[in-house]
Amino acid sequence: MHQTDIPPVLVTGATGRGGRLVVDRLLDAGVPVRALIRRPEAAATLPAEVEVFTGDLTAPASLDPALRGADSVFLVWTAPPQTAEAVVERLAAHARKVVLLSSPHRTPHPFFQQPNPMAALHADIERFIAAAGIESTVLRPGMFASNALTWWAPAIRAGEVVRWPYGAAEAAPVDDRDIAAVAARTLHSDEHTGGDYVLTGPESLTQAQQVAAVGDALGRRIAFEEMTPDAFRSLSAGTAPGAVVDMLLAAWSAAVGQPAYVTTAVADILGTPPRTFRQWAADHADAFTESP
Ligand SMILES: NC(=O)c1ccc[n+]([C@@H]2O[C@H](COP(=O)([O-])OP(=O)(O)OC[C@H]3O[C@@H](n4cnc5c(N)ncnc54)[C@H](OP(=O)(O)O)[C@@H]3O)[C@@H](O)[C@H]2O)c1
Repeated sequence: MHQTDIPPVLVTGATGRGGRLVVDRLLDAGVPVRALIRRPEAAATLPAEVEVFTGDLTAPASLDPALRGADSVFLVWTAPPQTAEAVVERLAAHARKVVLLSSPHRTPHPFFQQPNPMAALHADIERFIAAAGIESTVLRPGMFASNALTWWAPAIRAGEVVRWPYGAAEAAPVDDRDIAAVAARTLHSDEHTGGDYVLTGPESLTQAQQVAAVGDALGRRIAFEEMTPDAFRSLSAGTAPGAVVDMLLAAWSAAVGQPAYVTTAVADILGTPPRTFRQWAADHADAFTESP
């Protein structure tokens, strides 16, 4: 099929960690891409072939130009919750299918069953999608591998000890590139429409083991020191919302001594095994040595 015969996919959150990679994977597949951005200057960070629309999820009518003629929509929600229902209704009025970046809040593993305001929001959006009657695929990644950059790169770049709570808490970090590849596949093919997938990496690793894997990628040992939850709360004050910090601490506390939940969804959908955290660390080693 000639590229112009393929209907466009609209990517929200196109400047974010997940959405930006989804844009690239869709372009790789020859799919015309529309990107929703809220700051016009962000257009410069996107490939030239992307059709850019300015709009804001907190102003549902602002999405209409981007939605007109779009076939499927990648929905990432980090905005306040108030307009989510109206946005989903608008998606359903214009587009055929939505792929939602959600979380594994239905998975009966202690890590995913702690109080979590993001999970409540995701559950609401899933209900809005079901009520609107639009076709959908729900993607539920566990911990993104790239959280390691946010969490540990500043100390590692500065050559400091990594001080962190619950070093023994286990997770199966999923490579952001695998999430994006799955999202792109589900957006441009209908094979997985109606599907609901928990996406994880291939193995359970403690947080201390993840830091050590970054050290292996850098060819040096990184010292890890356990920090108390209260010290972590104080350190995070002003840089992360208190509810997010409490959610992380509760999830890590529940995950000590519990092997992480691991699925085969990435391999089932892509036909290739998920990347390991070691692979992610090796491919992102520069980001732990150079300023972003
Ligand atoms: N991190 C994890 O381990 C993890 C695990 C499972 C699920 N998740 C879920 O993944 C999602 C976050 O994905 P991400 O890491 O790719 O997000 P991200 O990097 O924080 O990016 C958020 C994107 O949303 C855009 N955005 C924010 N508010 C907007 C608004 N009002 N209107 C339009 N666009 C708006 C941002 O645009 P700007 O560039 O303009 O800010 C940005 O492109 C969340 O729902 C989170 O719960 C995360």
